[in-house]
Amino acid sequence: MNTAAQNDWVARSLHSVWHPCTQMQHHETMPLVAISHGRGAWLMDHEGRRYLDAISSWWVNLFGHANARINAALKDQLDKLEHAMLAGFTHEPVVQLSEQLAARTGGVLGHCFYASDGASAVEIALKMSFHAWRNLGQPDKQEFVCLSGSYHGETIGALAVTDVALFREAYGPLLQRAHVVASPDARQAQAGETAADVARHAAQDLRQLLEARAGHIAAVIVEPLVQCASGMAMHDPVYLQLVRALCDEFGVHLIADEIAVGCGRTGSFFACEQAAIWPDFLCLSKGISGGYLPLSLVMTREEIYQAFYHADVARGFLHSHSYTGNPLACRAALATLAIFDEDNVLAMNRVRGDKLEAALAPIAQHPQVKNFRRQGMIFAFDAQPAQAEGFARRFFTEALQQELLLRPIGNTVYMMPPYILSDEEIALLATRTLTVLEHTLR
Ligand SMILES: Cc1ncc(COP(=O)(O)O)c(C=O)c1O
Repeated sequence: MNTAAQNDWVARSLHSVWHPCTQMQHHETMPLVAISHGRGAWLMDHEGRRYLDAISSWWVNLFGHANARINAALKDQLDKLEHAMLAGFTHEPVVQLSEQLAARTGGVLGHCFYASDGASAVEIALKMSFHAWRNLGQPDKQEFVCLSGSYHGETIGALAVTDVALFREAYGPLLQRAHVVASPDARQAQAGETAADVARHAAQDLRQLLEARAGHIAAVIVEPLVQCASGMAMHDPVYLQLVRALCDEFGVHLIADEIAVGCGRTGSFFACEQAAIWPDFLCLSKGISGGYLPLSLVMTREEIYQAFYHADVARGFLHSHSYTGNPLACRAALATLAIFDEDNVLAMNRVRGDKLEAALAPIAQHPQVKNFRRQGMIFAFDAQPAQAEGFARRFFTEALQQELLLRPIGNTVYMMPPYILSDEEIALLATRTLTVLEHTLR
């Protein structure tokens, strides 16, 4: 396509396409990047420029763009079955996926309920928790608990358990507010305190709430190990053990939202494994389809499943989405799981992650950087710019100049790269991020 024609549709995109998480007026000065194709860790635009996708396109792309093995699985599936409804019907990809995921929890979370995006999975977990208590004769359990700085999505139910003012405030009157308890964010440690100490204080806050309200509380929802969207706040795994114990003591469900942290992102396949606990509901999305197709699911236990199993239709879980368990998305997910095993991804990521961490040392030691932190394949630091206003947008724009896709959250710069970076790409990412930081801080 020639440049004039291309500019024409890019400009039109600003009218016909309402872009997500964007103040559209900012595009008066910030051009859209028009992507033509992707290969491996790179996205290519229509003018021949390339960008290293260091945030896996909103944390979804695990094994690179145009991955040969996922492409092959999808091409094969396309010729068999693109979609069939999942009520009254089933198909092999959805059965295999459910069984393989259940096996990764040792069979503890043996029932998978499907949807398409992360927020829908959160809605399902909240509704299922409430409805399970109702079916079990405890209809007063109608309230939910989330953590300070939590993010669980932006539909009305998910937003009610999200504690990010920017996303929530405008919709306050529409939301059934949840209880917000202290975050175990390790950055809060006072001199002489460890991350585990912070976790214990935060768990104490939850205990106090449960002592007062447990009879009305259905579930506590947490993002295990890393609260991502509010700024990559990391915590000690002991927090998850304490929350699990409190939920057991007070008869409250635990929902683990692993939409961002699942699929190997924190170093284990499920983040909960690092605390040796299982929740009552585990939400998965984003990376599960390798970043190819919208797919989400909620895994749950036999006791929850049995609370709905009855001759009475109204006791069933009547939630549905048209594309529930889409076969193409499930095949992409099966191909993704196969890569984890074939390539020994978790072990290789330890090596890759250590290399990137070492390469980022000059940033960690930079005088205008605080709280350099890492959990598995999540790297973050808090920049200290003289001019905080607009930092994230200025950084994003500078990063594009350096062939990087990086999109800070406020002053927090983070990387969540795909699990395929070569040594050269690791070196390029680290050195150019330092350049971007220095240009943005100037
Ligand atoms: C922890 C967590 N939960 C839920 C969501 C919502 O997922 P989606 O954007 O697919 O609705 C996100 C998205 O970033 C997330 O990070």
